[in-house]
Amino acid sequence: MNPVLPSTAVIATIATLAAHEGQTVTLAGWLYNLRASGKLLFPIFRDGTGTIQGIVPKAAVPEQLFEELKNLTLESSLRVTGRVRADARAPSGFELDVEGLEVLERVPDETPFPITLKEHGVDFLMEHRHLWLRTPRQSAILRVRATIMRAAAEYFDDHGFVRTDPPILTPNACEGTSELFEMDYFDEDKAYLTQSGQLYVEATALALGKVYSFGPTFRAEKSKTRRHLTEFWMVEPEMAFAGLPELLELCEHYLSFIVAKVLKKHRGDLKLIGRDEASLALLEQVQAPFPRVSYDEAHQMLVDAHAKGLVETLHREGDDFGSPDETYLSSQFDRPVMIHRYPSAIKAFYMQPDPENPARALCVDVLAPEGYGEIIGGSQRVDDYDLLKKRIEEHGLPLAAFQWYLDLRRYGSVPHCGFGMGIERVVAWICKLEHVRETIPFARTLNRIYP
Ligand code: 4AD
Ligand code: MG
Repeated sequence: MNPVLPSTAVIATIATLAAHEGQTVTLAGWLYNLRASGKLLFPIFRDGTGTIQGIVPKAAVPEQLFEELKNLTLESSLRVTGRVRADARAPSGFELDVEGLEVLERVPDETPFPITLKEHGVDFLMEHRHLWLRTPRQSAILRVRATIMRAAAEYFDDHGFVRTDPPILTPNACEGTSELFEMDYFDEDKAYLTQSGQLYVEATALALGKVYSFGPTFRAEKSKTRRHLTEFWMVEPEMAFAGLPELLELCEHYLSFIVAKVLKKHRGDLKLIGRDEASLALLEQVQAPFPRVSYDEAHQMLVDAHAKGLVETLHREGDDFGSPDETYLSSQFDRPVMIHRYPSAIKAFYMQPDPENPARALCVDVLAPEGYGEIIGGSQRVDDYDLLKKRIEEHGLPLAAFQWYLDLRRYGSVPHCGFGMGIERVVAWICKLEHVRETIPFARTLNRIYP
């Protein structure tokens, strides 16, 4: 322990150092990196809010401090005191002239911090996710995620939506029975982890008008893709007395709001993560209105693109869009594109048929730009009792478990609609990440549940 901490120092964080230029401050953090050059040490400290480089000339500090820092192991925890000096070349705009150091816990030499500045493979990093989170890029992603989560709720809170929380343990499926996590629920019963809060927010919407839910959802996805997690966070608004046109407007204003909030607060973080000025400009274009393309128009675009050799496989009328299809479609626009009116046959049982063409559903998928694919899925809901009952039966779903859901069509049914937005897909797009596994502190995927 080094006692040379001036008692007059101001406690600060790296993110707020601009307010302390020229002052002596104390930071609580960790040693992120250390470079030595003769009689000079260049430690880099991190404190969770950012990183800052310190300058330690041997002649300017007590001998004991210099020696202790010179031999300090990475990720040792510490308190460091120094004078904040503006430096245009520094990434944060500042450097720290170190005056005092107190090592709180020194990482032993025998067990050095496993993550170094050299390249590590993804498996290694995911295996050490609890430590990988400490690196500046991962921390920046989590800061952006936090702002997205906050904006995702704030928009609804400010627009008359009431937050209502659906259960996580449910007696039935919402989005197809093949992707359910099942468990025993006392005696004879089975329970399932929720795939979507939708059915429940339909109930609360008919109680409160405009509502939303925001929580974890689960899918036993057997696929290994860069877009799928088995546990992810979904925000789901639901509106009574509204249909597809209102839903499309909500989507475009909602996404524009979220992107603007992130741009306002996180330009530095986004750059650190990997967006340069040109790619930040792409986010600036995300403003309502968004292009609207029907499924049938999108199908035609894909057929034409195939003829020109721009997409490999020919899209077949009636089929869902594959990843390469979505990538092509979204690359045709400079902002998210709203694809509406998919064939009912490939969509969920609860979607309202289009009165002008009952083979099509009043639904929308919003595809993010830059090839990120679907980030929002939503629809107007079947509001007729008999049609809904027929759909449940046709899909082979257990009627008994859906009695309460049918009740919503028995007692004062009204047109209503809503969507689900996956937070991790939005974080991946806004941060321009390769894979959703980096968008959440501890990703759950087909082949990973540790740490
Ligand atoms: O399109 P989905 O399946 O729609 C629903 O669940 C509706 N019940 C929502 C509603 O209308 N209230 O899922 C909605 C969104 C997708 O657009 C995607 O962003 C995300 O949830 N999502 C996933 N994100 C990560 N990993 C997965 N396995 C995901 N599955 C869906
Ligand atoms: Mg979907």
